[in-house]
Amino acid sequence: MKKLPPTGTVEVAPSILSADFSSLSEHISQIESCVNILHIDVMDGHFVPNISFGPVVIKKIRPHSKLFFDTHLMISEPAKYADEFVKAGSDNITFHLEAVSDPAEVIKVIRDLGVSVGISIKPKTPVESLESVIADVDMVLLMTVEPGFGGQSFIPESVERCQQLKKMLRPDQRLEVDGGIDCDTAPKIVAAGADTLVAGSAVFAQKEPAKAVQDIQKAAAVLT
Ligand code: DX5
Ligand code: ZN
Repeated sequence: MKKLPPTGTVEVAPSILSADFSSLSEHISQIESCVNILHIDVMDGHFVPNISFGPVVIKKIRPHSKLFFDTHLMISEPAKYADEFVKAGSDNITFHLEAVSDPAEVIKVIRDLGVSVGISIKPKTPVESLESVIADVDMVLLMTVEPGFGGQSFIPESVERCQQLKKMLRPDQRLEVDGGIDCDTAPKIVAAGADTLVAGSAVFAQKEPAKAVQDIQKAAAVLT
């Protein structure tokens, strides 16, 4: 099992949702040497109004990449399926606070599988609703668009939410942001405390994904 990179760095985590699914491993290999984390979006058509893919795809790409597989479950019953995603090769499982009634129990289920644990909130969920469980996760994922689709515009209010969340976290916990991250929004959200930047269309919808990653890394470094 790979470890989440220790805090102290800004990590760009390309999201394969915007990659070419007909040649996924080739597309991943283009960014393999410039990042540490690969973001993997799983959608069930129930928790979010879109369907992406399940564990079988993760299992197929696992042998082709050494990256840390950061699996973002946008699904209704994360505890039920976490085991399958870990067996398929996920190194982190992030679930949504809004999808469960007992987040502490879900954290325990995922933790017992031996992987790191993330918890995510949608743009309209108050950051305070994470208070009771935030100490028990390795990473918080702040959605900066409504989950479900790539290519949406960054919600500006996310900057203040990010600042609030940063104050609630210990220095050893990562603060990830997801949605509409590009060279323009990355420096603003890093200045607000984010250290893990998911980027889908700003990486894989570009002609040169590796250069696109490097451009975001440079832009994010401006204010750090
Ligand atoms: C959206 C997903 C994101 C998505 C981001 O629900 O969670 O990870 O791939 O895509 P962009 O970077 O294009 O907004
Ligand atoms: Zn995501």
